[in-house]
Amino acid sequence: MAVIGIMSAMHEELAAVLAVMPDEQCVRVVGRDFWVGHWQGHDVVAVLSRIGKVAAATTATVLLERFKIDALVFTGAAGGLSAEAQVGDVVVASGFVQHDMDASPLFPKHEVPLYGRARFDTDTALSQGLAAAARQVLSDLAQHLGPQAIADFHLLAPRVHRGLIVSGDRFVSTTAERQALQQSLSDALAVEMEGAAVAQVCLDYGVPFSAVRTISDRADDDAHIDFSRFIRDVASRYSLAILSQWLMHR
Ligand code: ADE
Repeated sequence: MAVIGIMSAMHEELAAVLAVMPDEQCVRVVGRDFWVGHWQGHDVVAVLSRIGKVAAATTATVLLERFKIDALVFTGAAGGLSAEAQVGDVVVASGFVQHDMDASPLFPKHEVPLYGRARFDTDTALSQGLAAAARQVLSDLAQHLGPQAIADFHLLAPRVHRGLIVSGDRFVSTTAERQALQQSLSDALAVEMEGAAVAQVCLDYGVPFSAVRTISDRADDDAHIDFSRFIRDVASRYSLAILSQWLMHR
């Protein structure tokens, strides 16, 4: 049976996944805890990604080399860049770019040297399945979130988007930086700190990859406000429900 790797960006998300895995065993490799078990009848290895591109690439490499996963799904939060990606929405990545990669003038800006590309596409079938699961979850929000969280974060009609996510080793927390990113990568929907690195590793290994990110902030001067509470009360609940729904129909 195919082994599915699940990388969570946040402790709360991983804890929620582990709480529903009936039989997980911990295997410690290079300082990371890999949880091997089952979920919805699938063989699963769940792990915290760690933060930033290098740490996440190392985690992905161990999943691929030691645990021989056949597909990898990443869940976490992201800052909204485009006007449509509002707090509480979900973005399923169609591709990733490293926004802080710049080896110009030797290579075009954002191109990863020796790969001949800036953009790393996600797997279409994985992304379609995850987007369908996300739409299902968001259509019945009250089943997954408490009324207080829905009210506090103004989650009236959250939407699922599919498109480009950009990654870099910075938490984007000023309006000026968000505007600069929007100018240089105008089709980017959201920004986070790991996905493009994991996409690159999965391309190297020829293993399908996709990612689901909940928009936790607008990558502006207010980006840090309520971040922890949002992760606990909204993003980690979305991740659990979306992954569970996706695995159930896989
Ligand atoms: N993850 C969630 N919000 C983010 C932001 N504003 N910048 C980078 N990564 C994020």
